[in-house]
Amino acid sequence: MKFFLDSADVKEIKELAETGLIDGITTNPTLIAKEGKDFKKVIAEICSFIPGPVSAEVTSTDVKEMIQEGHTLARLANNVAIKVPLTFDGLKACKALSDEGIVVNVTLCFSAAQALLAAKAGATFISPFMGRLDDIGHNGLELIHEICHIYGNYPNLTTEVLAASIRHPLHIIDVAKAGADVATIPPKIFKQLYQHPLTDKGLESFLKDWKATGQKII
Ligand code: G3P
Repeated sequence: MKFFLDSADVKEIKELAETGLIDGITTNPTLIAKEGKDFKKVIAEICSFIPGPVSAEVTSTDVKEMIQEGHTLARLANNVAIKVPLTFDGLKACKALSDEGIVVNVTLCFSAAQALLAAKAGATFISPFMGRLDDIGHNGLELIHEICHIYGNYPNLTTEVLAASIRHPLHIIDVAKAGADVATIPPKIFKQLYQHPLTDKGLESFLKDWKATGQKII
């Protein structure tokens, strides 16, 4: 399973990428706005040290302009993935860009029918938003199961399921069980994945006992 970071915070991405466990990055207009920096510069900078796909989202809603924006963003680096919304025009843009060999991530997916269309449009990634479905009393995990099941029925559909809008570590465990290809994780939740109070407590007592021996390894 691949782990992407859902962030445009270069400093934080750099820090977590040092683990060697980050396979890619997703951004969206909200995350970019939060940083208050030039969009294209931020994407180019992230691409300079993250070898995997870095999603940059188009902001037009018209197919022609989406394709133009996609071309502009794709020129920033060879690992840029173009994020398009799951709309009628977004699907057309996905098909056109994918046909050119550009990696496309179709975002704002909230139903299995939408995911099926994105796959047929050649998307490299489909991004179902789990947390936002949970927020309105729907079942985000159920959607991930449904999409994995449907894509699994048709080996010619090669679109990867990228679980997005992750709100807590359990979401990641659950989508891993469901067979999602990727989870895009906010940095705060990535850190929660390795933190455990029993690990901290256990280490503290091991170090105390080791110190008492007066020994050194090096
Ligand atoms: O980047 C898309 C998605 O992960 C956004 O999540 O937390 O804004 O619902 P959220």
